[in-house]
Amino acid sequence: MPIPAEIIVRPIENETEREACFAIRHTVFVGEQNVPVELERDEYDGGGAIHFIALVDGKAEGTGRLRVMGDWAKIQRVAVSPGMRGTGLGAQIMQQIEEYVRRECLASAITLGAQIDAAGFYERLGYVRHGDEFDDAGIVHIEMRKQVG
Ligand SMILES: CC(C)(COP(=O)(O)OP(=O)(O)OC[C@H]1O[C@@H](n2cnc3c(N)ncnc32)[C@H](O)[C@@H]1OP(=O)(O)O)[C@@H](O)C(=O)NCCC(=O)NCCS
Repeated sequence: MPIPAEIIVRPIENETEREACFAIRHTVFVGEQNVPVELERDEYDGGGAIHFIALVDGKAEGTGRLRVMGDWAKIQRVAVSPGMRGTGLGAQIMQQIEEYVRRECLASAITLGAQIDAAGFYERLGYVRHGDEFDDAGIVHIEMRKQVG
């Protein structure tokens, strides 16, 4: 019987891990989804965002980023490597970021802009659609919210 993989999701600890997160985002958003590279990276990547890395047996396979704005926290750029999708890794990334918000932040609610095709993923995790659909980088999105406080 195969040994279960060790999965760790946590904030990055060094520049190598930051670059690994950016590489996954580039593969997924720029490579697969044709998001322009100048939109995929923004000013918050230089500072103001906390980057989370998902390590599967030590290999970077997923990421997500957190920004905290007073009572609100915002999760962005959630991405899982193509070969690891459907294994529960995306859900673990979200759950660990939520745990971090509960533990480390004053925010009592999380907001995110979900790609419409991913809204069901977030709904399974307790997020609720809010407002009208909107365009971001040529992809239809919807705001979703969840209370965590
Ligand atoms: C969206 C994404 C992060 C989900 O990660 P994942 O590791 O494949 O998802 P998980 O395996 O953790 O799925 C958790 C649950 O959500 C469901 N789910 C996953 N993707 C879904 C989707 N697009 N729509 C509806 N449900 C979805 C799974 O079936 C699973 O359901 P279950 O708990 O009943 O078994 C991943 O598909 C991805 O990186 N996509 C490309 C980038 C992207 O679109 N990111 C979102 C930007 S808003």
